[in-house]
Amino acid sequence: MCGIFGYVNYLVEKTRGEISTNLIDGLRKLEYRGYDSAGIAIDGDKPDETLIVRQIGKVAALKEEYDSKDYNQDVSFVSHAGIAHTRWATHGQPKQINCHPQRSDVNNEFVVVHNGIITNFRELKTLLINKGFKFESDTDTECIAKLFKHVYDTNLKNGNSPDFNELMKQVLFEIDGSYGLLVKSIHYPNEVCATRKGSPLLVGVKTERKLKVDFVDVEFPDVESSHDISAKKEDLGLLPVAQGESSLRHSQSRAFLSEDGLPQPAEFFLSSDPAAVIQHTKKVLFLEDDDIAHIYDGELHIHRARKDDNLSATRAIQTLELELAQIMKGPYKHFMQKEIFEQPESTFNTMRGRVDFINHRVNLGGLKSWLTTIRRCRRIIMIACGTSYHSCLATRSIFEELTEIPVSVELASDFLDRKSPVFRDDTCIFVSQSGETLDSMLALQYCLERDALTVGVVNSVGSSISRSTHCGVHINAGPEIGVASTKAYTSQYIALVMIALSLSDDRVSQIQRRHEIIEGLQKIPEQIKKVLTLEESIKSLCTEELSTQKSLLLLGRGYQHATALEGALKIKEISYIHSEGVLAGELKHGVLALVDDQLPIIAFATRDSLFPKVINSIEQVTARSGRPIIIKNEGDTGISAERALAVLEVPQTVDCLQGLLNVIPLQLISYWLAVNKGIDVDFPRNLAKSVTVE
Ligand code: F6R
Repeated sequence: MCGIFGYVNYLVEKTRGEISTNLIDGLRKLEYRGYDSAGIAIDGDKPDETLIVRQIGKVAALKEEYDSKDYNQDVSFVSHAGIAHTRWATHGQPKQINCHPQRSDVNNEFVVVHNGIITNFRELKTLLINKGFKFESDTDTECIAKLFKHVYDTNLKNGNSPDFNELMKQVLFEIDGSYGLLVKSIHYPNEVCATRKGSPLLVGVKTERKLKVDFVDVEFPDVESSHDISAKKEDLGLLPVAQGESSLRHSQSRAFLSEDGLPQPAEFFLSSDPAAVIQHTKKVLFLEDDDIAHIYDGELHIHRARKDDNLSATRAIQTLELELAQIMKGPYKHFMQKEIFEQPESTFNTMRGRVDFINHRVNLGGLKSWLTTIRRCRRIIMIACGTSYHSCLATRSIFEELTEIPVSVELASDFLDRKSPVFRDDTCIFVSQSGETLDSMLALQYCLERDALTVGVVNSVGSSISRSTHCGVHINAGPEIGVASTKAYTSQYIALVMIALSLSDDRVSQIQRRHEIIEGLQKIPEQIKKVLTLEESIKSLCTEELSTQKSLLLLGRGYQHATALEGALKIKEISYIHSEGVLAGELKHGVLALVDDQLPIIAFATRDSLFPKVINSIEQVTARSGRPIIIKNEGDTGISAERALAVLEVPQTVDCLQGLLNVIPLQLISYWLAVNKGIDVDFPRNLAKSVTVE
């Protein structure tokens, strides 16, 4: 959870001011991943000097700290390697000494930024303390920095002088856990070594030169000898990967070299997320687990820490579709607000080119060749966390109705805790905005090991889940930066409905229902636009009376139970008000005891077959002096608003799609409750966007 960023320039002259700005700007784009503290490491004025600047708080605080130092900003570097980090604390409180970069020793011989958790850090720490190392922080990361120095010194003592990547392999051999890692060292000036395991990492490449892939060291004859990268149309190229045993002796490496072999200017950007790279270059290479990227002399070399026969021997340099404007706030005050208001467009984009509204067909390219297998499966298991889990709950019933396949919905962590049985004729659908959530990733590995068919429903292209599943659907919602998930929820919801529609394409008995849903889908973007006009009334509803409440209930039934759960989660995480989504039918079985004339209750009373039952529940509340906020369909006179605190009207759609509209007022309520309480909505305390820890 944490964001890491690195910048390497080779034969491209940059001042210290420009380099630090690049690093700090990169961190700003990654801040949503963690904002307890931040730091950078850059070169000093002397050849073997590394400067570390760190500060608690957000990136702005780091910038202030950096500016307060008296570094000469104009000194220029023809080649330079810098690394940076924004932190979400796992080991050690957010205090200065725990900020990254962490260092090996007082001379900053090795400096490290790390995203993830080292599970054997206690053992390593004991070992290193016994070797005489003095620890400064409570972090697991410090072990890595010190281990680098220990392994390096041991090599020297034995008469070896390993390459940076060889050293990395030796260090990786000792550590367990998950990591995205960047390392800089005075012993390898202007070089960066990077690796990942379970945490995302990519390399952006910016160069004018004509590139060619060549071998540095060949061990395995079954891989092609060279590729002319510039000959490829869509991709910049394929970089063959050095396959290696865990022992460094068997490694091999290929590198980007210029065609004429002469040194050429180049810049490299390493990042946890493409969002931080896009302003510099659209050419990126996503690293796989156990890849080691070694950047030096304007070249990018990919090595393997471990051999994996199942993994492709090439890495594609892809061109990102992302536009810079997509990750800017525009006229909005917060990313969350922007993303709520993007939903007419993002939901449209989820369906674009996939739903044929004229012929009532759905065509999902990423699933096409797997549909028959899925139709024959024994059951479907949807697995996700948080909001993504709620989108599964919201669509489970329509999935079962259309496909007639039993569907279970699982929280990834609980699914793994139970070691739930999975069979080879199961289809497991993994839903994730980031595609990097570790709990979901571990559940995916568990299902792959059991030979189940795995399907990804993911927003982030190139993410671990999208790459590890057999097939899938990108939800195409565009980058979601706000920590509270909003537009990803509605797009996941639609993507899951589209999958159910695809799977039931062959069912004559479902034709009517399918037509009704597809027609409903067509109207959703416009209807969302209409719901968004409620913002002003929601803003006034969320003033003191509501925002000072300690607790809140949300009542929903049938399709709206998931909306109640999702609404409660949004309110909790953004406004810090305790809120609970309750299945309306369960009210009388205990929850009713909470109801009095104080407790705010939001009730979803839009029209579907359960409407009369929801009305009953609302009456149970008002009979106990409760004053509900009722969400109902426009112009519906079948519900008395007499004793309600407020009524919010939303357009009517097909029952199974109504949750797409009903959730919008809740997103706005959570947003305005938080803003009125003075909370920084995009950075709620203790949370981070991408949860890459267990
Ligand atoms: C809540 C929220 C989280 C995520 C959860 C899963 O607003 O964003 O509950 O939904 O951490 O994340 P992804 O979807 O990236 O797997």
